[in-house]
Amino acid sequence: MLLEIPELLSADEVASVVNALSRAAFVDGRLTAGDVAAGVKRNEELDRGSEVRDVLARALVGSLYRSPLFRGAALPHRISTPLVARYQKGMAYGDHVDDPVMGEGERYRSDISVTIFLSAPESYDGGELVIRTSFGEQRVKLGAGDAVIYPSSSLHRVAEVTGGERLVGLCWVQSLVRDPAQRELLFELGQARERLLADTQGRTEAEWVDRSYVNLLRMWSEL
Ligand code: NI
Repeated sequence: MLLEIPELLSADEVASVVNALSRAAFVDGRLTAGDVAAGVKRNEELDRGSEVRDVLARALVGSLYRSPLFRGAALPHRISTPLVARYQKGMAYGDHVDDPVMGEGERYRSDISVTIFLSAPESYDGGELVIRTSFGEQRVKLGAGDAVIYPSSSLHRVAEVTGGERLVGLCWVQSLVRDPAQRELLFELGQARERLLADTQGRTEAEWVDRSYVNLLRMWSEL
């Protein structure tokens, strides 16, 4: 499932993140790429030793945990330390799938990839995130502060930036539920459950749906 999460960060939060990044050092993105990805990756990433990295990580991961839409769709078990990527004119990232297992200390499986857009779409040309899905190619270029989540197993690329500068935050999530089809069922059932529980009519039906949701989550969760 490819899902957009509008306004994950407020305009003020985006401004303070971008301000912190304006003083930070970036390095060649190929340093963090796997063998295949390194051949197609042309971007820059926030230096891992940068002192702003921890502050940014807390802001971005905190925003994900606060979002009911993200929590319902991703069912997060672990969220990676975010990475910040910068694409200047002429930079792009060719077709690749993300690494299956990541993490420096504690390792985690990447089930879901998250892109948090930090630059206003009108401030750069090109730079769409292009994701191949079973329904064809989806081209995603969202407002500053908006995010998109998609299965880490999907083939994707970043189209060349032909003007301006594209800044994004990137995270990977190990979900409680590994299978994307099961996650999608739980997401839709969870939405129905919330509506039914908010409605004081039809208590019995709400309780059936609630129990089904909770027990399916228990059946399919891996810790
Ligand atoms: Ni990727």
